[in-house]
Amino acid sequence: MTVLNEIISYSPEDTFAIGRKYAVSLKRNSVTGLFGELGSGKTGFVKGVCDYFNVRDTVSSPTFIIVNEYIGYSENDKSGITIYHFDLYRLKSLKELSEIGFENYLNENTICLIEWADLAKQYLRGNMKEVHFSYGKKENERIIKYL
Ligand SMILES: Nc1ncnc2c1ncn2[C@@H]1O[C@H](COP(=O)(O)OP(=O)(O)OP(=O)(O)O)[C@@H](O)[C@H]1O
Ligand SMILES: [Mg+2]
Repeated sequence: MTVLNEIISYSPEDTFAIGRKYAVSLKRNSVTGLFGELGSGKTGFVKGVCDYFNVRDTVSSPTFIIVNEYIGYSENDKSGITIYHFDLYRLKSLKELSEIGFENYLNENTICLIEWADLAKQYLRGNMKEVHFSYGKKENERIIKYL
């Protein structure tokens, strides 16, 4: 496993800023899998990504409805971008993933951010950027790794 970059976050605000910075590199038609245990900062990172894209809606973990849709735009490209924010925590199988119409979300104009992306990883076979979150030594420390 090659880790491209590892960053330590010391606060929720740091994680937000790290997500915001990550968003600069995001292209249309990209899929990012967010991995890491409960409370490790995945949604906080997504909030930063959405802030970069000027999303006005409240960003929260879509645990019960599986996917949230946000519309935003970036300062370089005001034409608008759709962001799909998934949480696959409750999904059990690849079959369930196809039942929610997963492939329909991966169209050319969207940015997909997927919490608990293990199933999607099998589905996409390498076509996904990965960000891994884990707890650091101190209470508010989180380690964020780009793979
Ligand atoms: N450095 C940090 N970065 C991000 N969140 C932090 C940090 N320190 C403390 N926290 C707290 O940890 C929690 C992270 O919650 P968040 O919803 O982002 O996690 P998550 O990985 O999306 O969890 P879940 O798998 O339940 O969706 C928040 O309550 C936040 O305030
Ligand atoms: Mg979450």
